[in-house]
Formats: sequence, C-alpha cells, structure tokens
Amino acid sequence: MLTLDFPGSRILIDTIDDAIAKHSATAITDSLRNSLCRLIRGNEVQLPACVFEANTDHYARRELYCSEKLGYCVVAMTWGPGQGTLIHDHDGMWCVEGVWNGALDVVQYERLEAADGRYHFRPVGSIQAGPGSAGSLIPPHEYHTIRNPSDEAIAVSLHIYSGRMTHCAVFQPLDEDGWYQRAERQLGLDQVH
Ligand SMILES: [Fe+2]
Repeated sequence: MLTLDFPGSRILIDTIDDAIAKHSATAITDSLRNSLCRLIRGNEVQLPACVFEANTDHYARRELYCSEKLGYCVVAMTWGPGQGTLIHDHDGMWCVEGVWNGALDVVQYERLEAADGRYHFRPVGSIQAGPGSAGSLIPPHEYHTIRNPSDEAIAVSLHIYSGRMTHCAVFQPLDEDGWYQRAERQLGLDQVH
C-alpha cells in the first residue's frame, strides 16, 4: 500500500522491489545500498516536504511505504540538532539506511556478554555519514546508535526494513563502563502530511 505519493515514489518502489527479488539478505542489502546512494544523489526522487520538518522533543519517524506483497517498509527519519538513539537492535530485521540530508554519526556495537538482564557492548566502528551515503545492517550484527552531531542543522535519513518494525530493544547505559540495561521500546510513527 502506498501511504504517500511523491515525485519519484514509483521509481523508489520499483527499485526496492527489484532488489528484494535477490536470493539472500546480503545480496538484497548490497543492491539496496547501491541503489539508495544513486537515488539520493540524483534528483528523480523528491521526498515529501514534511520529512524535512524536525520535532522538538524526539526524532521523527514517518512511514512512507509498506509493501503488502513483499513485506518491506520504508521509513523517513528526521533528526533535529543533537537528536539520536540509544544502542538498539532491529528486532531481527535487516535494514538499509541512507542519509538524504545533513550528516549522521553512526556507531556500531558488538554484544559481548549478558548477565542478570545486563548487557556488555563494545563499540566496533563509527562513521560520519553524509548525504548520498548508505549502510546496511544484517542481524546479528545490528546493534548501533545514530545521532545528528550538528548544533543547528537537521538531518534526514531513509530506512528500508525487511518488515514493519513496531518495536525493538534499546539499551540504557549503566554506571559501569560498557554495561547496559535492556528495555523493550514501542516505536511510534509521526504523521505524514
Ligand atoms: Fe537503527
């Protein structure tokens, strides 16, 4: 079902449909990563204006499309200055994330051990991703944080998930270095208009 019609939305959907036909999560996400970079750098796809409006109290998640037939979902996220996430997983789904506007700091974490509901993580890589760049995550290598490092500019990213992600696990830092408390989080959606 198309929730929103915007210039180039058909191109975006056809491109993702083609990639999803590939045989493995790695092949699909490799293809989507390349396509997403190309689409961001080109001008055929113009995301709806609301996607460029940040919320003051949380980063915005706007669902642009979910494929009934193929199951994947496309979500645009808008990051106000300094807005970001805790360490989180993707509920077992693969994901391709591209930066449409601005820049985002992405840090990947490796889960080392767990004890008494507490989890130990180690950062294993960080990048500052600019417009026209894209990365992918395939479980179990899915733990990461995203943050807009700017003091004044918003950032916009486009996320393609293998399914509709309604909740995920987030990890709150504890006092001890590298240890976190797990919590389940329901993910809300912001209005597309
Ligand atoms: Fe994420």
